[in-house]
Amino acid sequence: MIQLDLLRCLLAFLLVSAYLVLCYAKLGRRPVRAPAAAGGAIDWLVVHASQTGNGEALAAQTCATLQHGGLSARSTCMSELEAQDLLACERVLFIASTYGEGDAPDAAERFIRVVMAARADLSHLHFGLMALGDSSYRHYCGFGASLEQWLLESGATALFPRVDVDRLAGAAIATWQHHLSHLAGTMDAPDWSAPVYQDWRIAARRLVNAGSQGAPVVDIELVPADGALPDWQAGDLVQVRPPGDADLPREYSIASVSSEGHVRLLVRLHRRDDGSTGLCSGWLCEGAGPQDTIALRLRKHSRFRLGANQGRPLILIGNGTGMAGLRAHLKARVDAGQIQNWLLFGERNAHCDYHFRSDIEHWQASGALASLSLAFSRDQAESTYVQHRLLEQGQQLRDWVRGGAAIYVCGSLEGMAGGVHDALLSQLGQQQLDQLSAQGRYRRDVY
Ligand SMILES: Cc1cc2nc3c(=O)[nH]c(=O)nc-3n(C[C@H](O)[C@H](O)[C@H](O)COP(=O)(O)OP(=O)(O)OC[C@H]3O[C@@H](n4cnc5c(N)ncnc54)[C@H](O)[C@@H]3O)c2cc1C
Ligand SMILES: Cc1cc2nc3c(=O)[nH]c(=O)nc-3n(C[C@H](O)[C@H](O)[C@H](O)COP(=O)(O)O)c2cc1C
Repeated sequence: MIQLDLLRCLLAFLLVSAYLVLCYAKLGRRPVRAPAAAGGAIDWLVVHASQTGNGEALAAQTCATLQHGGLSARSTCMSELEAQDLLACERVLFIASTYGEGDAPDAAERFIRVVMAARADLSHLHFGLMALGDSSYRHYCGFGASLEQWLLESGATALFPRVDVDRLAGAAIATWQHHLSHLAGTMDAPDWSAPVYQDWRIAARRLVNAGSQGAPVVDIELVPADGALPDWQAGDLVQVRPPGDADLPREYSIASVSSEGHVRLLVRLHRRDDGSTGLCSGWLCEGAGPQDTIALRLRKHSRFRLGANQGRPLILIGNGTGMAGLRAHLKARVDAGQIQNWLLFGERNAHCDYHFRSDIEHWQASGALASLSLAFSRDQAESTYVQHRLLEQGQQLRDWVRGGAAIYVCGSLEGMAGGVHDALLSQLGQQQLDQLSAQGRYRRDVY
């Protein structure tokens, strides 16, 4: 009898051990496991990874369409998405743009490094993916494609083929809407049409870099042709539709605040490889006369607005026409009586390329600019850029960041943005820079 009990115990022990070995073997392949869906879980999670806000706006419209069909849906930025979020829901829609040379937008940086780098079992997950891009780039919709690959490799199931959207082409967006209507079981989806362009006219235009070694830069003030000036916030953009290129608006950072009574732009006359002038910059800088109307619309750029950084010290870093976006922030800050501002600006020569010099000097003299670092690359034998100023002032940078500062970068993607990123990395370290990104304290408007 005792022997039989012992045998049973032994068998039970072997069974439990075998079960545990199996579980661990499985867990080895599945480092994170799906918790049971919480009560009141939403039907759809809509995740956007967007640099300049197109994807974010499409995510809001996607949510509205699902809600219109009686489904619960929540939109979230990829910067806030954790592996747990994907494990806790069953249906996700992704809207992901591509930046740089086939790179992910800043909003996806942490997700790629932390979530995508780890393995996850997403076999419970069904997803749809819309990739935003521009087919004139070599890596068309590059990030959308790698996100899809990761989802499939993690066991997730695609609900429909990936929808690639070339320069926000209406036909591709209609395909996405069609899928949504199917999912939401409704054909009368809310209106998705983009805001219409308004007629504007040029109230003032001035070449600001006569004698520069670089291409002409023009300071342009625009007002609505009729009607009131719409409202916007520092950090926002305008889209201008150049004549003869109906589908392809060009973006420009707004340099003014709405209380100034006009939209102010700093536009560099673009030269193509064949020597011809760019369509939109040519129209704004030279072609359009005072009687011509400019088709323009304002665009919210949430990732470059102050948002929750309102009360923080601000480190503003930029070059060239990037001074436009930085000026809007400085003007808004000075008007609000916030003086903890450190501007780092770079161009070629101080005598002709120092954009908004009188504003900057005035703010500095009045104490509204706590710190100013200039880098004019061609004013001395050795080329000096804003990133070098950051390296020289590493201690000040660390002190400001310790004091809660947020960092805003505006201007050239090529050269400046990468150089500044590397300088920040060397002075602050990866962990702190990651933390700043996660807290929305490192933001970029680079092109
Ligand atoms: C977020 C953001 C902010 C910006 N802010 C500023 C700013 O403040 N100041 C500033 O000067 N510039 C800014 N730019 C750059 C600006 O949007 C334009 O790219 C620049 O003025 C050149 O446009 P263009 O029409 O003059 O030149 P174009 O040569 O006509 O166009 C420039 C590029 O657009 C694409 N393109 C144009 N037409 C076509 C077509 N028919 N088919 C395919 N591709 C086409 C090509 O890639 C081409 O190289 C910003 C860009 C972005 C993305
Ligand atoms: C500086 C810059 C770099 C870009 N690089 C790419 C690219 O490598 N591949 C691509 O498909 N699209 C590229 N695009 C196009 C964007 O993905 C496209 O404009 C998209 O609509 C932006 O959406 P968003 O506002 O949500 O970020 C680039 C756009 C800019 C302004």
